This record gives sequence, structure tokens and C-alpha cells, in this order.
Amino acid sequence: MKTLRSMGLRHQDGKLLLLDQQLLPREEKWLDIRDPDQMIAAIRALKVRGAPLIGVAAAVALAIHAEGGANARELREVAGALRASRPTAVNLMAAIDRMLAALERDEDLSNAAERIFDEDVELCERMAENGAALIEDGDGILTHCNTGGLATAGIGTALGAIRKAHEKGKRVHVYVDETRPLLQGARLTCWELKKLEIPHTLICDNMAAALMRAGRVRKIFVGADRIAANGDFANKVGTYGVAVLARHHGIAFHPVAPRTTVDLACPTGDDIPIEQRQASEVSGDAAPSGVSAWNPAFDVTPAALVSALVLDSGVYDAVALASGMLRKAA
Ligand code: MRU
Repeated sequence: MKTLRSMGLRHQDGKLLLLDQQLLPREEKWLDIRDPDQMIAAIRALKVRGAPLIGVAAAVALAIHAEGGANARELREVAGALRASRPTAVNLMAAIDRMLAALERDEDLSNAAERIFDEDVELCERMAENGAALIEDGDGILTHCNTGGLATAGIGTALGAIRKAHEKGKRVHVYVDETRPLLQGARLTCWELKKLEIPHTLICDNMAAALMRAGRVRKIFVGADRIAANGDFANKVGTYGVAVLARHHGIAFHPVAPRTTVDLACPTGDDIPIEQRQASEVSGDAAPSGVSAWNPAFDVTPAALVSALVLDSGVYDAVALASGMLRKAA
């Protein structure tokens, strides 16, 4: 396979490396992933994360397994395990299904994985252009979780749009939700924004309402892990609350995603499987040991709360989503 380089994944000299996103920003350590089991463990532990990137990473791991001599039966088995490593982001299933289709057609799996990687880079560029057009000079923008180069093979989804606007010379100030419980906003988005020299301010998730009331937020850009056919979408838990607050304060709310995040087989948000994670991620060291905690990794935002959905193919408002536009757009 050719050399692949993104912010969080590298394939070079026959080695597959992942930047351990659980150690950021304290430590920048590249993990050497030698077999699909290690990739599955890395996906489950969120060492590699973000809807588009887990699809790309799983496809690359499968291709390397094929290069190592695995036969079709073994590849199908491993593909099934990779596909099941996280349940919500449909990009993972879409990437594995493309790899399995290539296997059935007896195609080269390395070429198929390279295409998935390159396509994600291209989709990020198109989303970023479409999203940046919605951003005006002087905008205060709230974002949730991490949706940048660490979450994709390219420049990102929501954060990619913000980055593109910044590169075009628009002055923006980004407010970053810390994103409890695993702090992807505080740890990863702030790390990316610092490197990109984009002005930003970190807030606790429970400060978003006060920030909006204070008039500091003009627009909200978030990512998505799965978009149902009616435009409802799942994203990092807390996104729904931000959308409700945005409606109350009359603030534009924009999910940004590639076509690989759209799942037309899912009629509504109620049909999206939501990953439940361990209680310990919520309780940490603060609560009494053994406390019961609810820890859904994602929540669902209804399409009615979306001002406009930004895809690589264009921008679709709530009316367009309600009229079934997604079936043509994705
Ligand atoms: O649990 P994570 O960190 O993988 O969740 C990531 C998100 O929720 C992102 O917003 C989403 O994947 C879309 S952006 C690339």
C-alpha cells in the first residue's frame, strides 16, 4: 500500500501507525498497529476515533491483513469484527462494506483502502468549502467534541469548515465545549486549534447556555456520526442540548458531515444504535466508588432543530430535509 499521512494515522514503510488520542495533548505517541485485533482494541478505547477516521483506519487494517496473506474466509471474519468495534458511526460500516464488496469482486484491497482514504480527504475539502461559506468575518462559533484532522483523513468536518474560513481570512473566535466525559473538546480540539493558531476559548459543557445568553455565539458547527434519512442525526452526547439551546437563542445550528455519514437505511433518529460506554468514564475519581452512571456516547438531534446541514454535496435546510432531499443528496 502507498504511504498515507493524516493528522492521526500514518501508513509508511509497511507500518501502520496511530497517534494515541487518549494521551493527547500531554503526549504525542504513535502506536504501531500490527494486526486487526490491535486496531479493534484501539477503536474501542478511542485511541483512534471520529466517525470518518475509524472507517478509514478499519479499511487500512483490513487491507494490511490481506497483504499479509489472509485468505477470503479470514478476511470476512476480521471484517465482521472490525465492523462491530463501535456501533454508532456508520462510516465504519460503510467502509467495511466497501472493502467486502472489493473482496467479492476479487479486487486489490490495498487499492480499495487507498481510495477510501483519498476520498475522505476530498470530501473534507468540499464540506469545508460549503461550511466556510456560511461563516462571516467576526463570527463567534461554538463547537462540540472533536471534528478536525484527528477525526478524519483530511482537515475535518465542522472544524474543517472553521479552519477553511480562517484560511480565507475571516476572523473567527471558536468556543470549545470541553465535551464530558472523555474531553475530546478540551484535549483534542484545543490542541488542533492551538496548532492552527485559530483564536479559541474553552468552556465547560454546562456554560454553553450562559455563553449564548451573553451574545458571544453567532453560529454553532458540530459533526455527525450517523444521519438518518429524515435528517435526524447522532453525534457526541451533548449535541442535542446545544441544538435546543441554539433554537431558544435564535442561533444558527449546522451539522457538517460527508456523504459516508448518511444512512438511508435508517428512517429516523430513533433507529440509530447508540453506544453505551462504561460507568467509570462518567464517575471517574470524583463519585463514590461503585456509583451507577448512565453513559450514552451519543445523542440524537431531530432534523427540525437543524438550521442547515452541510454535506460535501451542498447545504440543506430543515425544509429540504423534511421533503426527503437527503435521498438525492447523499
Ligand atoms: O466518540 P468519538 O470521539 O469518536 O465521537 C466523535 C464525534 O462525535 C464527532 O463529532 C463525530 O465523529 C463526527 S466528526 C468527524
